[in-house]
Amino acid sequence: MPGGPRRRATAVLISGRGSNLQALIDAAAAPDYPAEIVLVLSNRPEAKGLARAEAAGLPTRVIPHHAHATRPAFEAALTEALTEAGAELVCLAGFMRVLTETFVTRWQGRLVNIHPSLLPAFPGLDTHARALAAGVKLHGCTVHQVSAEVDQGPIIGQAAVPVLPGDDEPALAARVLEAEHRLYPLCLRLLAEDRIRVEGGRAVIQDPPEAGTLIMNPDQERPG
Ligand code: GRF
Repeated sequence: MPGGPRRRATAVLISGRGSNLQALIDAAAAPDYPAEIVLVLSNRPEAKGLARAEAAGLPTRVIPHHAHATRPAFEAALTEALTEAGAELVCLAGFMRVLTETFVTRWQGRLVNIHPSLLPAFPGLDTHARALAAGVKLHGCTVHQVSAEVDQGPIIGQAAVPVLPGDDEPALAARVLEAEHRLYPLCLRLLAEDRIRVEGGRAVIQDPPEAGTLIMNPDQERPG
């Protein structure tokens, strides 16, 4: 785009369905979006997200983790593919492999993940079932920079949704997923525009988009 802002080359790593990948693809379709997807990489050949990437005309790669004897060997193959594609930024979107410190350090500050809970609550798996069991009234999702400790890097953004009476796991998961699809493109924008600075382990956002001041559940009674 001559004269336009530079779009940061971004790779998306997936293992499955790829609905967050789709949200990023849709966002990046806007010419003024500051990131472009240059590679979609999956560790599973059967990942449904690969078809989404192909439908959008994006380059894909499959690097099965079990084809590599060790985690470092698998990650070396990932880095090689990412480098070959010219990726500057890496988004994990349902990528189900734990990454080593070597990989995380190599991509530090340029590697982000989306997690389906309001971290630091409910790191790890089965977040929706655990949120229901705990009886929390607000749940949600987090986009964070990736650090060597799983689900613990600096938090870039979060979106909260209410837990409603009668919710089961699928209902709550669907509500959170909708929030994920709004949050991830926003956070990738902040990353691509270099608006995130990490200070003392916390992410500080430059010119953050305005947020509401109160999210309450149960909400106050409506008059009448
Ligand atoms: C999402 O819930 C994401 O938060 C988690 O894995 C799920 C991936 O879903 N890390 P999808 O593949 O993006 O549809």
